Amino acid sequence: METQNPIPAHRSSAIHVRLYQPGDKAQVLRIFRRSFIDVINDAIGINLATPRIVAAVEVAAAAGTLLISRWRKGSSLVSNAVAGMAIAVTAVPAVVAIYYYALVAALIYLSEKSDMGDIETHYSPVGRDGTPRLNAFFVAIDKTSGAILGVVGVQPSTKPHCAELRRMCVSHESRRKGVGSALCQAVVEHVSRWNSRTEEESQRVHRIVLATTAYQAPAMGLYERQGWRRSGELVSFAFGFSGYYYSRDV
Ligand SMILES: CC(C)(COP(=O)(O)OP(=O)(O)OC[C@H]1O[C@@H](n2cnc3c(N)ncnc32)[C@H](O)[C@@H]1OP(=O)(O)O)[C@@H](O)C(=O)NCCC(=O)NCCS
Repeated sequence: METQNPIPAHRSSAIHVRLYQPGDKAQVLRIFRRSFIDVINDAIGINLATPRIVAAVEVAAAAGTLLISRWRKGSSLVSNAVAGMAIAVTAVPAVVAIYYYALVAALIYLSEKSDMGDIETHYSPVGRDGTPRLNAFFVAIDKTSGAILGVVGVQPSTKPHCAELRRMCVSHESRRKGVGSALCQAVVEHVSRWNSRTEEESQRVHRIVLATTAYQAPAMGLYERQGWRRSGELVSFAFGFSGYYYSRDV
């Protein structure tokens, strides 16, 4: 399938996409960690506006009022209710924020314990047995300064004939400048090149897949703009979030 909306020429001319080199590690990890935190900040904002949290604040306010009334015997109910509400509106968002920041710290830790901690090995184009493989990790570079603006990886998916786009992120300052689009295109072109030099049908990739959470509106906007389609719903009961799978044919 052709890319439906290629990167606008005036944007792509300032960006160069190349394969990861070991010297890129510090910049890549900085962008990766910061992007995770951005997504979590959005998640906290979205979650604080849900009926569940409003209900939690109400319950906490009632409980707080009750406790304060027992402790400050003889004081007016109104002043106890105001104090109870003040505690609730501070405590509930704090608990939500602590939960999400602990989650992001755990996810960053686990990512860096696996592929992001050893990009050379996990995304090497050659397997341990010396055979070529699909894996690749790309960085988008500012042609003028040489700074890394964004990153993306590609690996075989667990599904047959599928590749997975992973770890897409663009530095905070470089967003909405076509970097994410350039990285998406680099992955699609890489997979097409892989197919064209792979004779064995069982090794060919027919589809690229990826997963987003419902908190990643910019990512969903990017993939839809690039011609990807929603192919399923993702529900993580363990972490309490939902999201979508996207895919595109190659
Ligand atoms: C998602 C992300 C990679 C997009 O990168 P980017 O370089 O800003 O994307 P582009 O500039 O190429 O944007 C291309 C199109 O995507 C859509 N898009 C990008 N950001 C958007 C936003 N904040 N809101 C709505 N649409 C958005 C738009 O259609 C945009 O085209 P336009 O600017 O002409 O309107 C970036 O926001 C990011 O790193 N987010 C945090 C990490 C993340 O969620 N990664 C995805 C993992 S699945």
